[in-house]
Amino acid sequence: FTPFFLRDSCRESSHVNPISSQKLFSSGELGIPANQDIVTVEKCEIIQNSSDMDTLKVFWRDGHVSQYPENFLRRYSTVDNIKSARYGYQPFSLWNKTSISEELSPKSLIVSYDEYMNTSLGLYRTLKGLHSHGLVFLRNIPHQPINTNHISGVESLPVDNIIVERIAERIGYIKETFYGTSWDVKSIPNAKNIAYTSSFLPLHMDLLYYESPPGLQYLHVIENQAKGGESIFVDSFAAVKEVERVDKVAFEALKRVPVTYQYDNDGEYYYQSRPMVIMQRDQKVIEAVNYSPPFQGPFECHTDTEGFKDFQRGLAIFESFIEDPKNQVLLKMEENSCVIFQNRRVLHSRNEFDQMSGKRWFRGTYNDIDTFWSRLRVMARE
Ligand SMILES: [Fe+2]
Repeated sequence: FTPFFLRDSCRESSHVNPISSQKLFSSGELGIPANQDIVTVEKCEIIQNSSDMDTLKVFWRDGHVSQYPENFLRRYSTVDNIKSARYGYQPFSLWNKTSISEELSPKSLIVSYDEYMNTSLGLYRTLKGLHSHGLVFLRNIPHQPINTNHISGVESLPVDNIIVERIAERIGYIKETFYGTSWDVKSIPNAKNIAYTSSFLPLHMDLLYYESPPGLQYLHVIENQAKGGESIFVDSFAAVKEVERVDKVAFEALKRVPVTYQYDNDGEYYYQSRPMVIMQRDQKVIEAVNYSPPFQGPFECHTDTEGFKDFQRGLAIFESFIEDPKNQVLLKMEENSCVIFQNRRVLHSRNEFDQMSGKRWFRGTYNDIDTFWSRLRVMARE
């Protein structure tokens, strides 16, 4: 450890507010030449505690004394220790149709609503499944109450009792979007959004034209009697790994070439430009994928370069992987069930359905990914 690191991470009450845990000085102050005494060590002592944990005591030239417990020093002693101390860095499982079918059981990625809502274990199991595979199914949800307008006959959900919002709030705060705190997926005439029609919806992620697209998406199946309309889910991280395995140059291009996403409709104009593959800072692990053909805008980069050809090859490998039924989970979602999935990892789509054959009504909502990570880290620590 450098003197700078130790002084900068001192946790004494003069340096960090013990109530708010906010740092009370700027790291910049330690770099000023006039402040050299602050980052100069006069002497160190090791204090042996009755427990196994020793404490390092550092006496600084400016008179301040800092103490560092052994577990703190161990945690920050290697890059691997830093990572493993935070849940989000644990490895996740890539999947295809065969490998995930073994996990689609009440022991793993299927959780009962009651267990999820009312037990810590049920919630923790759901969070771990969302981290490892990116999707979990909740079953046996109580029937969603529905209000019917006496004059028009139009059905709607009671604003104070929308079950999917309660499900999402169990993990964290809801991410509100221009669709509201939650939204219906049912067919309506002259739909502006492709999700509101009965036609086939290709594999995609939601709201990539937002600066921070939703991390988790929830789809609660209220009614599903229409013929067709099966849901399809694919692990985009596995598809990216396949691109990397087959064509390394193309994989590099997917990390670089910007793709435009926009929603320019109905008095709204959302826009973002981002590459398909985002890596964690160590460049070894995938952090997120951006793939949503229905919401893509025109390319704004040169499309006549070698680099763009590399991107196109990568995209073709990616698409042939995700469109292969061997890599897809295809299922007709049960009424009173809810799927939760990582929107930046698991692609979703829906087969065409016959509007005349019966009702189909899903209700959806989102969380930011941060609230998910926060809940998971806290529960893992407990
Ligand atoms: Fe969607």
